[in-house]
Amino acid sequence: MTALNDLVRPDRYPRSSRYDPAWLVGLDMGPNPLWLLEDLVRNLELRPGMRVLDLGSGKGATSVFLAREYGVDVVAADWWIPAEDAAAVFTEAGVADRVEAIRTEAHVLPFEPESFDAIVSIDAFEYFGTADNYLPYLTGFLRPGGQLGIATPAMTREVRELGAIPAHVKRVVGWEAMAWHTAEWWRFLWEITGLVDVTSARLQEDAWRDWLLWTRVCAAQHPDGLAVHQPVIDMLTEDAGEYLSFALVTARKK
Ligand SMILES: C[S@@+](CC[C@H](N)C(=O)[O-])C[C@H]1O[C@@H](n2cnc3c(N)ncnc32)[C@H](O)[C@@H]1O
Repeated sequence: MTALNDLVRPDRYPRSSRYDPAWLVGLDMGPNPLWLLEDLVRNLELRPGMRVLDLGSGKGATSVFLAREYGVDVVAADWWIPAEDAAAVFTEAGVADRVEAIRTEAHVLPFEPESFDAIVSIDAFEYFGTADNYLPYLTGFLRPGGQLGIATPAMTREVRELGAIPAHVKRVVGWEAMAWHTAEWWRFLWEITGLVDVTSARLQEDAWRDWLLWTRVCAAQHPDGLAVHQPVIDMLTEDAGEYLSFALVTARKK
């Protein structure tokens, strides 16, 4: 059985490994968000005091991490999770003075233009960010020179190019896999606007293994965990990295 301690991997994720795996699994909404964020930030420059929007922040683990690890002020914006629930996580983590929870939909963000130094989005952009007009909308909230970084489920080849969603993915994810793209697809979508310089667009190394490990640990932690997580475990095991990955994409507003 996969144990909580398997999530402590200081060689690969030194900062994430300082967090209690039970706390993190308790906030589970998808594959290890701290690993994704820690890897993504390798391509960003975050400095203390910056104002950062964590878009699609879920139950808030990534917002806690941003505040603690990089000393930034965070607005944690999410649609499914009530702001009070996220705020309770921030209070318990001792970062309530630096992280504000807001419940909002990603197309009607209640912020001033050019009011953020950076926007990050972990395992959320696939739900709202694939339309041609979304990057132009979102970058309106970034100051000139501000940074954007996303980690999003990805494919190693475009579904359009394959002609169909691979059967083992379609069985579990359905049509939503149409929002899973290659890193190069994101690079083109963003760069063609002329609004940003894409500073990196890569697939996370061994993303499927990280995702599988996380899912196995989550499955082992709850009485009905296996029933909930087995389809994803089967999908990732069958895939073995042929198609499934995570894209880490960063850009700087001109
Ligand atoms: C898979 S969860 C990931 C949450 C968190 N970032 C994490 O990694 O634990 C996806 C998140 O995207 C948010 N989301 C989905 N559609 C959204 C939308 N249209 N506007 C704002 N947030 C949205 C959901 O509320 C949800 O918390």
